[in-house]
Amino acid sequence: MLPKTFLDTMKHSMQAQQAEFLQQGKPVFSGPAALEHFAGWWKDREKPGHIVLLCDTNTASFCLPRLMKALPADVRISEIVIPQGEKSKSIATCQQVWEQLTRLGIGRKDVLISLGGGVVTDLGGFAASTYLRGISFVHVPTTLMAMADAALGGKNGIDFGGAKNRVGLFAFAECTVCDPVFLETLPAQEWRSGSAEVFKHALIADADLWKILEEQGCTASSLPDLLHRIQRVKIDVVHRDPYERGVRKILNFGHSIGHALESESLEKDRVPFTHGEAIGRGMMIETEIGLRLAKMSAEESAMVCRVLEQHFGKADLRHYSAEALMKWIRLDKKNDGARVRMSLLTGIGRCDWDVEVKEQLILEVLMDFGAAA
Ligand code: GLY
Repeated sequence: MLPKTFLDTMKHSMQAQQAEFLQQGKPVFSGPAALEHFAGWWKDREKPGHIVLLCDTNTASFCLPRLMKALPADVRISEIVIPQGEKSKSIATCQQVWEQLTRLGIGRKDVLISLGGGVVTDLGGFAASTYLRGISFVHVPTTLMAMADAALGGKNGIDFGGAKNRVGLFAFAECTVCDPVFLETLPAQEWRSGSAEVFKHALIADADLWKILEEQGCTASSLPDLLHRIQRVKIDVVHRDPYERGVRKILNFGHSIGHALESESLEKDRVPFTHGEAIGRGMMIETEIGLRLAKMSAEESAMVCRVLEQHFGKADLRHYSAEALMKWIRLDKKNDGARVRMSLLTGIGRCDWDVEVKEQLILEVLMDFGAAA
């Protein structure tokens, strides 16, 4: 008889053949048949004793009934529902999730499924991979932002001390299921927010995709044709550098300034920027920084800013102080000690990383976008 491990490998590769992508050998089902493939995936997998579904208040109502049909019939299923929104990406919510996993008696052979946007997948991956030193988890992203970016690539974490993603770890979902059916109920603001990561992927690595987006934008009608192309950028970059020692940092283009703006807005504004609104503005401001460092031509940077402005609005910082934003920028994980390092475009479809940017230049640019001195 063949050893169990060999049979397991065979099964695994059969599952993998149906997947659009593999990340660290683990399937990513993506497209209109993704939920169907997910339903089939369970058949070849050792049956868990218990499946825990982590949802937020929106996905529990709008997405859960669809997902249920893709789960095995004879397994115990429980739900953990957290409030919708960025505030849930916290140690307090994570503690509640750990408490509920403990109360439910979840063990190492059980599975947590995160059903939601980036907040739910980041938190779910973090809670699962720290509970009992790690239980298996599956991501089922339900927003454009999570399908294009957050649910791919193995980054999991929470915000801490106001700073985005301050605490976290790398761990890859056993399976990722990106079915556009979930986008049918996505509010327009969430759609626009997610499209920031789509534009970012084009700008850092796919000039032809940028041309398409420039002409058509990122709309519900164009997405089915573009989804795999958008995801391929992320999956290829992560494949080359899964633990962000080098090239993966390009995925952070727009995020040094964007995260600062998002953190400041979360603390200060009654209606804070969504992640994508902050990243859209962050990309415009970082494009300007790239121009001033002669990384990019004036013509290309003007074009990038014009298109981003059309989609995300003006990067108007009048409401913010340059020094307050600078405090958040100093906390960015890409920095090297006291030196601020950014990922900056060197052209459309090309990006450099670990570029040192002096604080004086950052402050000047922030003020030129209206921030108070
Ligand atoms: N969202 C950036 C990354 O996954 O590396």
